[in-house]
Amino acid sequence: MKIFLDTANIDEIRQGVEWGIVDGVTTNPTLIAKEGADFEKRIKEICELVQGPVSAEVISLDWKEMVEEARKLASIDEYVVVKIPMTPDGIRAVKVLSAEGIKTNVTLVFSANQALLAAKAGATFVSPFIGRIDDNGNDGLRLLEEIMQIYTNYGFETEVIAASVRHPMHVVETAMIGVDIATIPFDVLKKMFLHPLTDVGIKRFLQDWEAYKANKK
Ligand code: E4P
Repeated sequence: MKIFLDTANIDEIRQGVEWGIVDGVTTNPTLIAKEGADFEKRIKEICELVQGPVSAEVISLDWKEMVEEARKLASIDEYVVVKIPMTPDGIRAVKVLSAEGIKTNVTLVFSANQALLAAKAGATFVSPFIGRIDDNGNDGLRLLEEIMQIYTNYGFETEVIAASVRHPMHVVETAMIGVDIATIPFDVLKKMFLHPLTDVGIKRFLQDWEAYKANKK
C-alpha cells in the first residue's frame, strides 16, 4: 500500500520523507490556508521534496474554468495531480484533462456511484472521505470495499485513496481491504509507529545489556 501524507506542512513532509515511507502528498484549500504560504510556491516545494504525486486542488466550479486552472497547476511541476471536486462539471473537466494526460484526483467522494463516474471519466485517483462518512453515522470502510469491488469487476485503473483518515485503525482496515493508497495526517502517521510493548522491550534489552557488561568486568 502506498502512503501519502495529508498535509501542506513542510516540516511534517520533510520528516516523513526522511523516514522513507512517504509516496506522495495530498493538500486541500483548508490545509494550504492553515499554512498561510503562497499556494504555488508551496506546491512546488512539496513536489521537490516528495518526488511523487502531490495533489493540489482547483477552486473553480465551472468545468471550463477548472480545466484552465488545472492546466496552470499542472505546469508547476511534473508531480502535480489536480484535485477536482466530484460534481458534473468536475467529471466533465476530468474527462478533458485525462485526454490531455493531466493527472487528476476526484475529491469529496462519498458514494460508490460517484467513484464509478470518476473512473469512467478517466480519473487517475479517487478520494473517498472515510472519516467524514463515519462522522455522519455511516460506514466509510464499507464504502472503500464497494469501490474496490466495482473497480476490480471492470478493471478500472483509477487508484483509490482512502482520505479523511482519523486514526491508526483506519489505516489497518484500509490495508486489509487492499486499498491502493491511504492519505494520512502526520499525527496519525506518528501514532502508527507506537506500541507500549516496544518501549518496554527496548528498556528491558538495554537494562539486560548493561547488567551483562557489568558482570563481565
Ligand atoms: C483528502 O485528500 C483530504 O485532504 C482530506 O483527507 C480531508 O480530511 P478531513 O476530513 O480530515 O478534512
